[in-house]
Amino acid sequence: MGIDFVLNGQAVRAEGRATTTLLDWLREERGLCGTKEGCNEGDCGACTVMVTDADGSKALNACILFLPQLAGKAVRTVEGIAGPEGTLHPVQEAMVAHHGSQCGFCTPGFVVSMATAHLNRRQDFDDQLAGNLCRCTGYAPIVRAAEAASQKPVPEWMLADGRQIASAGAEPAAADATTGQAAPYMPTSSDDLAKWYLAHPDATLIAGATDVGLWVTKQFRDLGEVVFLNRCADMRAIERDGEALRIGAAVTMTEMYDAMLPLHPSYAELIRRYGSVQVRNAATLGGSLANGSPIGDNAPALIAMGATLHLRRGDDRRELPLEAFFIEYGKQDRATGEFVEAVRIPTSAPNLRCYKLSKRFDQDISAVCGCFNVEIEGDTVAAARIAFGGMAGTPKRASAVEAALIGKPWSAETIAAALPAFAQDYSPMTDMRASSDYRLRTAQNLLSRYFADLAGQPTSVLAVQP
Ligand SMILES: Cc1cc2nc3c(=O)[nH]c(=O)nc-3n(C[C@H](O)[C@H](O)[C@H](O)COP(=O)(O)OP(=O)(O)OC[C@H]3O[C@@H](n4cnc5c(N)ncnc54)[C@H](O)[C@@H]3O)c2cc1C
Ligand code: FES
Ligand code: FES
Repeated sequence: MGIDFVLNGQAVRAEGRATTTLLDWLREERGLCGTKEGCNEGDCGACTVMVTDADGSKALNACILFLPQLAGKAVRTVEGIAGPEGTLHPVQEAMVAHHGSQCGFCTPGFVVSMATAHLNRRQDFDDQLAGNLCRCTGYAPIVRAAEAASQKPVPEWMLADGRQIASAGAEPAAADATTGQAAPYMPTSSDDLAKWYLAHPDATLIAGATDVGLWVTKQFRDLGEVVFLNRCADMRAIERDGEALRIGAAVTMTEMYDAMLPLHPSYAELIRRYGSVQVRNAATLGGSLANGSPIGDNAPALIAMGATLHLRRGDDRRELPLEAFFIEYGKQDRATGEFVEAVRIPTSAPNLRCYKLSKRFDQDISAVCGCFNVEIEGDTVAAARIAFGGMAGTPKRASAVEAALIGKPWSAETIAAALPAFAQDYSPMTDMRASSDYRLRTAQNLLSRYFADLAGQPTSVLAVQP
């Protein structure tokens, strides 16, 4: 396998296995050790690189990024952030001036995240840096450095990648002379994917690799035959479809945030807390549903909205309500050779509210994620869709709670009377994130919060921040 891309301004061909991570390749094959290995699972940002393609430049975690995901793109590591003859980038200058580094282990990752945010003219520094962990400096000097650098123009050399990618090859070479590994399949449309997957049903689908990457880096699994979805253009599209949006399965969570913000701001706020910038730039909507995770954040929100899942096997397509896809823990309604093609999301759900409870505000998996969508006509509950993650082996609707609300007056008394129904819907487990009792109690509390929220009372703890 050979993958062509641009590395720090130079065209390169990377030889390796289809599941060789960019981090391993940079450090072991190129001796570019500025990109650090901290967690090797997408959590710490020490391995952050800037990747540029036709859609722009984004920060990604090199530790869970496979070489074929880079075909035809440009990669800039920390070694490529300074300009000609070592001219410091404004973020590097500012990190020095504001004492943004102590032991320095996290610093290359921070500098690349900051340089990418600087290039994109982002000012939301807390969000932009939430995926980079620092254990000794503390974040205030680093954020001050980012603020100071934002006053400076983007250096000319940082604009070169966008111009250069057009000339880079995008197709992987057919086979790797050194390993004899077959080239990974990299279809450019869902039609090609559907045909190929039918003939290779045991292959592993790889979209953003924010789950699959960990199978390799943590579980050391040999994935066998793999297919990469990130070049299927139609699966990356967002289209208006009547009173809904049809979102391709390969749309990233960053793109989802932009699409959801004007329609479903509460869901967008949930997405803002989905992993980190680096994770959201890679993770796809389809991957987050296909993995069947009971603690994923998208499923409860989408179930509460009444989203439908579009599945495809060869030329056969079917659609089903999203909640019907999750059968039991580890089991989804997906046949051999079938894949998620798209998700259809209603454009209107004015009473939708999504609440994520996790131990850390940023970059943490939910202990409980509750999403509420109640329709009130006059004073009466006309319809209710309530779904939770973290409360069962699958993302699951609170059917008994919904039944306790529908047809009743929308009042504090009705809410109080509905609370015991949570115990009919859920028997949550105790694990490292939360106890069963905590989960049940907080789920009930979230319904009370929802009532207060719709009444216009302030309910967000962020409101108490200075
Ligand atoms: C550091 C970190 C933080 C995270 N934080 C959060 C968080 O806050 N909230 C949250 O919900 N999740 C979080 N996740 C989980 C992760 O981001 C999601 O599960 C992710 O959306 C998976 O999408 P992907 O494109 O990366 O999938 P991949 O890893 O590529 O694939 C995941 C699974 O889905 C399959 N698959 C992918 N696409 C398709 C398709 N179109 N059809 C059928 N099967 C498919 C793959 O074969 C694989 O089994 C986090 C992960 C990391 C590493
Ligand atoms: S090494 Fe921690 S995110 Fe990659
Ligand atoms: S400077 Fe030591 S971890 Fe950040």
